[in-house]
Amino acid sequence: MEFSKVQTSKRAARVERSAERYMDQLVRSADRIKSRAGLEGRKARYDDVQYEFVGGEGEKIRKRHYDKSLRHLWKAQKEAPFLSFEDCSKAERDLFGMALRNLTEEEQAARKRIAMPEYKALLDREYTRREKQAIVNILSAIGHGEAYAWLVSAELLGEVDSTGARAALTMQVFEEAKHFVVLRELLRAFDVPIPRQSAWEYLFLEGVYKADGLEKFFGMNVAVEGVALSLFGMLSQLPGLEVLRLFHLDESRHTALPSSYFDEFPMTSWEKHNPASRWRRLKMILPALMLVIHLEEDLAEIGVDAFEFGGSVLWKVTFLAQRSGFYMLLPRSVLLPLLNEAFNGYCRLTREGHRRQAFMEADSTVGRRERAVEAAVFGLA
Ligand SMILES: [Fe+2]
Ligand SMILES: [Fe+2]
Repeated sequence: MEFSKVQTSKRAARVERSAERYMDQLVRSADRIKSRAGLEGRKARYDDVQYEFVGGEGEKIRKRHYDKSLRHLWKAQKEAPFLSFEDCSKAERDLFGMALRNLTEEEQAARKRIAMPEYKALLDREYTRREKQAIVNILSAIGHGEAYAWLVSAELLGEVDSTGARAALTMQVFEEAKHFVVLRELLRAFDVPIPRQSAWEYLFLEGVYKADGLEKFFGMNVAVEGVALSLFGMLSQLPGLEVLRLFHLDESRHTALPSSYFDEFPMTSWEKHNPASRWRRLKMILPALMLVIHLEEDLAEIGVDAFEFGGSVLWKVTFLAQRSGFYMLLPRSVLLPLLNEAFNGYCRLTREGHRRQAFMEADSTVGRRERAVEAAVFGLA
C-alpha cells in the first residue's frame, strides 16, 4: 500500500504531546484524589491502560453466557412467523425455505409459516374463551416480569465487574427486550383483555428493582427467573405456544448467571450470611407466595394445581439461591417443609376432602427437552 504523505510540523506535534502528557497526569491524579476523598472521580469503571473493564477479562463467564447466547440466538420471524417481526436476514429466510422443502408433506403442513388469521383460528380451535383468558392471565404475569427483567438487567450491567460479565449482562438485556416485545404481541393475539400487574406482582417486582447492588441478582436471576423458567417449562407444550421453549432456554441461562459470576467474584461470608440481607431476601419473595393463590383459578382452568406449580417453583428458587450463596433467614431444609405445611393448611381450609400432599416434590415442567435443560441447570443427572 502506498500513501502520499502529508507535510506536518514536527515541532507542533512535540508541543501537543508534552501538553497531553501533562494534562493526562493532571486529570488522572485529580480524579484519583477525588475518589479517595469519596467524591465522584472517574465515572467509567473502565481500565483503558489494560484495555479492559475494571475486574479483568472474565473470559470464562463470557464464553458461558455471551458466546452461548449468540449460539442459541433465535429470531421471532422464524419461530413465530404470524407475529409482525422482520428480524431474519435474507440468508436466514432462504435457509428456512430450503429446510422446509426437504421435509415430508406432513411435516411441511405442521411447520407451515402460518399468518396471524390462521394463528388466531388455531387458538380458537384449541381453547375456549375462558381457557384463552386463563393462559393470558398466567402469561401476562411473566410478561410484566419481562419489563422488570429488562430494567433490572440494564442496571446490573453497570454494577458487575470484568469485561466478560458485562458482555454476559448485555446479552441478558438484549434477550429481555426481545422477550418483552415478542411475548406482548403473542398475548395480544389471544384477543382477550390483558390484565394489569396484580398487587402481589407489583410488590414483588418493585422490591427486586429497588434491591441494592448485586442483591438484584437474587431478586431477578434467582427468584423472578425461577418463576419464569417454571412457567415457560409448563406452557411450552400447549398448542400455539411452542415458541415459549426458546424463552425457557434463555431463562435457564439467566438463572445460571449469578453462580457463574460469583465463581469469579465471590461474595464475602458477611454478604452471604448477615442477618439483615437474609431477612431482606426472604421478604423480597414473600409477595410471590400470594401470587400462587392469585393464579389458582386460572391454573386450574388449564389443568394445573397451583400449589404443585408453586412447590415446583420454590424447590427451584431455593436451590438456585443456595447455590449462589444467597442465604435466606431460614435455611432451605426448614423453609420448604414449612411452606409445604402452609400450602396444605390452605388447601384443607379451601378444598373439600383435601389429602396431604408433598407439594415441594412436584415438577411442573412438562416437555422432554425442557426437562433436559432444567436437569443441566439443577445438576440432576
Ligand atoms: Fe425473560
Ligand atoms: Fe431472563
